[in-house]
Amino acid sequence: MCGIVGALSNRNVVPMLLAGLELLEYRGYDSSGLGLLAGGQLQRIRVKGRVSELARASADASAPIGIAHTRWATHGEPSEANAHPHLGGDTILVVHNGIIENHAQLKARLMTAGYTFTSETDTEVVAHLIHAELQRSQNLLAAVQASVAQLEGAYALGIASTTAPDTLICVRKGSPLVLGSGFHEFFFASDIAALLPFTQRITHLEEGDLAVITQDRAQIYDAAGQPVERPCRTLDISPESTDLGHYRHYMQKEIAEQPAALASTLERALQLGFQPALFGPQAEAIFSQLRHVRILACGSSYHAGLVAQYWIEEMSDLAVSVDIASEYRYRQAREPDHTLIVAISQSGETADLLAAVRSARERGNVSVLAICNVPHSSLTREADMVALTYAGIEIGVASTKAFITQLAVLFTLAATFAQQQQRISRETLQHYQHALTRLPQWCSDTLALENEISQWAHELSHAAHALFLGRHQLFPIALEGALKLKEIAYIHAEGYAAGELKHGPLALVDETMPVIVCMRNDRLTEKVLSNLREVEARGGQIYLIGEPGAAALAPFAHRVLEIPGSGDLAAILMTLPLQLLAYHTACRKGTDVDKPRNLAKSVTVE
Ligand code: F6R
Repeated sequence: MCGIVGALSNRNVVPMLLAGLELLEYRGYDSSGLGLLAGGQLQRIRVKGRVSELARASADASAPIGIAHTRWATHGEPSEANAHPHLGGDTILVVHNGIIENHAQLKARLMTAGYTFTSETDTEVVAHLIHAELQRSQNLLAAVQASVAQLEGAYALGIASTTAPDTLICVRKGSPLVLGSGFHEFFFASDIAALLPFTQRITHLEEGDLAVITQDRAQIYDAAGQPVERPCRTLDISPESTDLGHYRHYMQKEIAEQPAALASTLERALQLGFQPALFGPQAEAIFSQLRHVRILACGSSYHAGLVAQYWIEEMSDLAVSVDIASEYRYRQAREPDHTLIVAISQSGETADLLAAVRSARERGNVSVLAICNVPHSSLTREADMVALTYAGIEIGVASTKAFITQLAVLFTLAATFAQQQQRISRETLQHYQHALTRLPQWCSDTLALENEISQWAHELSHAAHALFLGRHQLFPIALEGALKLKEIAYIHAEGYAAGELKHGPLALVDETMPVIVCMRNDRLTEKVLSNLREVEARGGQIYLIGEPGAAALAPFAHRVLEIPGSGDLAAILMTLPLQLLAYHTACRKGTDVDKPRNLAKSVTVE
């Protein structure tokens, strides 16, 4: 949450800071600000609202050094006074991503020392603390080091000061931060996306690292204060990958990119087959001893984990548990020996998930497999094994292509367990390979049904509530469909296992309740149809997403969409119409699709 960018150059950095902030707006967008340092003078420009408003307010600004921030409020309402940067004394500017947990104690101490606070934020404490330390040491680096030693919580900080007019300092603990190097210019940001327009040369800072940036170099110090070298990697990501192109929204673009994202993610699995090597060199040995798989994730990634539970249980003889990361942290779950923790995350920076993984390591002798869309993220660096999803940068706050590619990786993981345990015939494995090969095309064919879904959306946009139903691997997809509709169209929606309907939610069904159902042609079809007849009898409007033949099976349904292919990969394919349904409903309601209210993409606070 919150995005920070910093730049030091021999040219005006204001356009770069604004461009970087725009690319970070997915991390927060309730207020924004710039702190500039030129000729030893500080300038601060802050607005309540979007980066576009900040750009208007800073049209005449120019400076070779600056820090910038886009906010997702944690302490204090969105307002200009709470927007970053915050001022320490009259010489320090600070931008911050994260939460300072001991801010109340620090604030009380600083107030006793005579500091006056003008905001409700925890960040202002940091700015005054550095100022106070600077009075003692007269050295900005020493003052920042002494200050961060007193901070508890998670933070990435960017600091500028008139006392070091040619310098920027940044520091991270628990929140992501990368450095970028150009020709006689340096940048930092909470996400590489913000730096792609300027440089592909990126250094990932480690936990506790601090960097002192001047025109000639960026000197990094580790958590112990010792100078260190960190590898600088040249990325191979096209800056155009963050362009909207001809699309109206990033979410629309990212939905359309799913066939290609799946093809990239599945490429190695289709070349190698379902081999443990797909998950890293240690995987063969670790997988061969496994008895239990514990999946940890949040939000949509958690739904992907729930689908995987059905797949793994069906294909192998492993016991599988799936936990919401924020709950697992505070449960007393035991981890038997030979447990594999599968941590699923688009961003690899979700604070609840990172804490859950660390807590799992304390509970037993576990191995950790990260399934993640961001290489070199905090999660991938902490894991023993990594399987990347190759979805490309996902900017829309609602996860689409990252979720779909997580499912693809999880399916290959389940099939790999099955193959290693010799629980599956050669014919079935070949059948899976064949289905995965055809998956991108089935996806494109399903997305081609967009016009029909858009008509459903027209009807749904008038609803106040909606129910989503599914069974087996499609139950988590019902949860995912409901989540998508809630978060971007602001319609109250619930996902249920269809068999649960009669245990409570049926009481809600009448002619005003749209009921969106995903159904396969399999051993559970008759059971789902019985559930649907119960809905029909109470006047509920049934929107059925099924396999070929579904319309004939449910002539009483209000609308039916038959999607091509499906079978074992139904969970992947049936997600697509639900994404499109949420998207078009949101468009019809005129909500801010890519930046839904109160949400941010990368949730780096607890
Ligand atoms: C919903 C959504 C969120 C994320 C969740 C976990 O559309 O995007 O629910 O899935 O915040 O984020 P990651 O996967 O980055 O750990």
